[in-house]
Amino acid sequence: MWRLQGINVGRLALIAAALLLVGLVGNLAAQDAENPYTSLEDVKTGERLFQMHCGRCHGRDAGGDDGPSLRRGRFRRAQSDAGLFRVISEGVPNTGMPPIYRSRTDESIWQVVAYLRSINQRPESISLPGDAAAGRRLYAGAGACATCHMIEGVGSLRGPDLTFIGDRHSPDELRVDLLEPDHEVLPRWWSVHMTYVNGRTLEGIRMNEDTYSYRVLDADEKLWSIAKRDLRESRRIETSTMPSYEGKLAASEVDDLIAYLFSLRTEESSP
Ligand code: HEC
Ligand code: HEC
Repeated sequence: MWRLQGINVGRLALIAAALLLVGLVGNLAAQDAENPYTSLEDVKTGERLFQMHCGRCHGRDAGGDDGPSLRRGRFRRAQSDAGLFRVISEGVPNTGMPPIYRSRTDESIWQVVAYLRSINQRPESISLPGDAAAGRRLYAGAGACATCHMIEGVGSLRGPDLTFIGDRHSPDELRVDLLEPDHEVLPRWWSVHMTYVNGRTLEGIRMNEDTYSYRVLDADEKLWSIAKRDLRESRRIETSTMPSYEGKLAASEVDDLIAYLFSLRTEESSP
């Protein structure tokens, strides 16, 4: 009985040691390796994993929250992909950055690395087909984008401020912004359609809502406070107020706008 137990304990220790060794070797290999998971699918999976596990500290789009922005084009704690792998799997000791992925597979960590890389390509290393100067003219002229957007204090607040949009969105994301505005509309940009008891109607961006009232910004940028008891009916609209430019602008004009918007960044002067 005693002997048997002794043997068992010994074997367990051996197995544990072997497992530890495999784990270490696996880890070392990962630290030297290049990222084997870099397909578009991997990037997308990485993005989903990021939103699930990292977004609460780094922001859902990695733009920063309690944790730092991971979109600044470089990392303080890591240069290589292998370095990022290590930061994510081990955390940063004595900071708020936990080793959140210790129980995860290498594959999912690499996919998060691939996602972080995809949103951190150096802007000058990306060559875009569009002409930023033409995009700027289109934005201010025929595109009439400033009727809803603000850049450097000029324009309107009916849509997000675009002064640093190039820091926040990649060229691919900008294309989706222009062609499929309903793709992902934050609650901040939902609207509400209201019918008063007397039949009058009002529609606008829902700036605020509580149990008793709405605050709404209408198309003329007038701010309304409305008591819900004065309404017969109200309907929330979760699509974007921004029109899709699919088919309305030529493909080359969309490219020009993307080149212009992508140039709007903190560290570079705009064209
Ligand atoms: C509980 C909050 C929290 C969570 C969850 C979290 N982080 Fe962090 N992260 C931080 C903080 C705080 C730092 C800054 C640490 C420091 O002082 O360098 C950081 C730093 C980092 C860095 C280094 C940044 C640099 O410039 O070198 C990377 C990369 C990173 N986190 C990625 C991730 C990823 C990927 C996930 C999800 C798997 C994640 N983090 C989850 C809080 C968090
Ligand atoms: C009628 C108002 C309106 C017009 C006109 C409009 N937008 Fe928008 N735009 C919005 C709103 C509201 C959002 C936020 C909701 C969403 O994601 O679609 C938005 C989102 C965006 C975004 C994503 C910004 C972010 O922070 O996520 C970009 C980029 C953008 N618009 C560019 C343009 C450009 C370029 C034009 C002109 C060709 C334009 N918009 C015209 C209202 C407008």
